[in-house]
Amino acid sequence: MTKNPSRRLSPREQTHLARFSYPQDKWSEIGEQPVEYVTGKAEFFGHVFVVNENVLIPRVETEELVDLVLTTIREKKLSKSNLKLADVGCGSGAIGLSLGFVLTKLKPDFEFYLSDYSKEAVEVARQNGENLLGEEDLSKFHFLTSDLLNDYPKEKFDVIVANLPYIPSERVDHLDSSVKDFEPHLALKGGPEGLSLIYRLLDQVSEYLADDGDVFLEIDHTHSLLDFSQYRKDWQMELFRDEFGQNRFIKLSKIKQ
Ligand SMILES: C[S@@+](CC[C@H](N)C(=O)[O-])C[C@H]1O[C@@H](n2cnc3c(N)ncnc32)[C@H](O)[C@@H]1O
Repeated sequence: MTKNPSRRLSPREQTHLARFSYPQDKWSEIGEQPVEYVTGKAEFFGHVFVVNENVLIPRVETEELVDLVLTTIREKKLSKSNLKLADVGCGSGAIGLSLGFVLTKLKPDFEFYLSDYSKEAVEVARQNGENLLGEEDLSKFHFLTSDLLNDYPKEKFDVIVANLPYIPSERVDHLDSSVKDFEPHLALKGGPEGLSLIYRLLDQVSEYLADDGDVFLEIDHTHSLLDFSQYRKDWQMELFRDEFGQNRFIKLSKIKQ
């Protein structure tokens, strides 16, 4: 692992290390390693998540994805009985558990599937579920190792949310050392255009999405609606930018007949 004792920690990183009581006399040894892997903790949507080298450190932009899903749920899904949701490529469980945490306060009857290709990541998500939720609420969550939707039960979901790897693979080698040398490449590399996993998921969702269901995806800033409208002409879709003004999320819905 790359060590660079001269790296200057940003105020945010220093606050993180102090908050999680990482001894100050060791700060100079951290090098390029992200402080979240040093402390084993990451903050997301007001919660503390356990993280390790098997999961991506949840990003601040992704909190906006959680907000986007919650807005749709509040607008049109609260009256639906036994809401079914899925977070595909859950990593630490940041998206699914943050959503689920709010849902436990809003709506008693829901079921949430969190899945990842990496069984180590699923274990981290499960651990975070145990840390964040009480036993009764946790019973509404299923943790699954699955290549996309391959091992899901053949059921209809009201919400499918996914922050799959979307960085064009070639670009990963040019990212900062803190990312490319420490974060799992399984969580980053999205194939030649960054769309391989996303397109594979879209191939599968029709079968798993309720007629009035919605799919929410986080995408690379180089992706646009054109990448998706050409692919799924028959679906309604909307693009959202993140707080930095970059293309970042799309919402896809089956058009009602
Ligand atoms: C960009 S990370 C996002 C993690 C988490 N959802 C978040 O927002 O912090 C992508 C996740 O997708 C998982 N993944 C990669 N290929 C997959 C596949 N074929 N099926 C399911 N999950 C996959 C990775 O292991 C990783 O946890």
